[in-house]
Amino acid sequence: MSIDSSSKRRLTEASLEVLSKNRRAKDGFQYTVPSPTAYPYQWLWDSCFHAIVLSHLSPADAKKELLSLVSKQFDNGMIPHMIYWEKGEVINFKWGKEHTSSITQPPMIALAAWEIYGKDKDKEFLKKLYPHLYHFYNYILNERDPRRHHLASIINPDESGEDNSPRFDTPLGLPTKQTIKESLESRLELVEKLKSCDFDAPFCMKHFFWAKDVPFNAILCENLSVLSKIADELAFKEDSIRYAEESLHVSRAMRELMMEDGLFWPTYGENYVKTKVKTWALFAPMFAGIPTADEAKKLVSGFLDNPSEFKTPYIVPSVSKSDPAYDPAGFWRGSVWIAVNWFVRRGLLRYGMKEQAARVLDSTVALLDKSGFREYFHPDTGAGLGAENFTWGTLVVDMMNDDD
Ligand code: GLC
Repeated sequence: MSIDSSSKRRLTEASLEVLSKNRRAKDGFQYTVPSPTAYPYQWLWDSCFHAIVLSHLSPADAKKELLSLVSKQFDNGMIPHMIYWEKGEVINFKWGKEHTSSITQPPMIALAAWEIYGKDKDKEFLKKLYPHLYHFYNYILNERDPRRHHLASIINPDESGEDNSPRFDTPLGLPTKQTIKESLESRLELVEKLKSCDFDAPFCMKHFFWAKDVPFNAILCENLSVLSKIADELAFKEDSIRYAEESLHVSRAMRELMMEDGLFWPTYGENYVKTKVKTWALFAPMFAGIPTADEAKKLVSGFLDNPSEFKTPYIVPSVSKSDPAYDPAGFWRGSVWIAVNWFVRRGLLRYGMKEQAARVLDSTVALLDKSGFREYFHPDTGAGLGAENFTWGTLVVDMMNDDD
């Protein structure tokens, strides 16, 4: 533990306050908005983060966070990345449908459910959630991988959760130096395409944007393995075996189709063209235990601990300093995001790299102490950027308790 008990108490209380202030209730459901002003809706992976944090503080509220998410699951199993609980908001139409968006986000929900279950062993909750998980992961496995190559595609950069990451510049046809407006316009154009495709991902959207992202698939791999444990706990033996196999398949496919010289790169198109942009996604496979111990060591010494790459005064920058796209104050183009720190820290702990994991936590604490619960941070100065009262900083609660 690299953090003293008074800091732990202080940050836990501050986190609880942000989550409580951002909590909303509607139509018998409860959810948490990422930021009251900038992001006043419900988001898929954000709610999974909230549930993971709340599993430590209030499992009952954590469960409500996931139950509100699945209440808007589509008939085909997809869970939308945004839910607009309040009617009549202008944004309703921007993402293709009324009341929800028409795309998804990284499939973190099985893990969030498992973290809650780990705290209170409430099997009834798992039972209630399981059919939703079953249909959601089957949707990802079938609709996003129609050729059964064991890698899931995303149909819009926003499905990665890293809206304008340079990993998507080439598949979007955008230059390295671009404005937020240009990026947003081309991402919204994809939504128009999705509408004209009548929301058909595998046979229509693949002609416009069909990227296999590294974190999305690493998250899928880890969540399928967790889903296998959930199925086992509920005595669904066949499902449990199948999801464990699916997880293994994703891990093997990532090694086969994304890896080159020990590094994993996102691909686009039907022929798996690699996009060699250096972002934190280099470390994401560690979250799912995909690299060998030796490969992981090289990733950390060559990149995470390298001052010309990712070792900035405040870590972990979302893009390497050495990449042409690096912009330390840019939205997902170099700035530090606490969810990234959370993924990287879990990966490091998985490989027993306690010292590096402690550095990620120390930096997270330093950022929160210096700048509060901001959306993202400058890797050189630690200055807070973007939205205020942003919930991702509360992941520090999980980080402070994950190696107990
Ligand atoms: C931004 C982030 C995305 C997040 C959303 C709500 O769009 O890029 O990952 O889900 O804000 O916080």
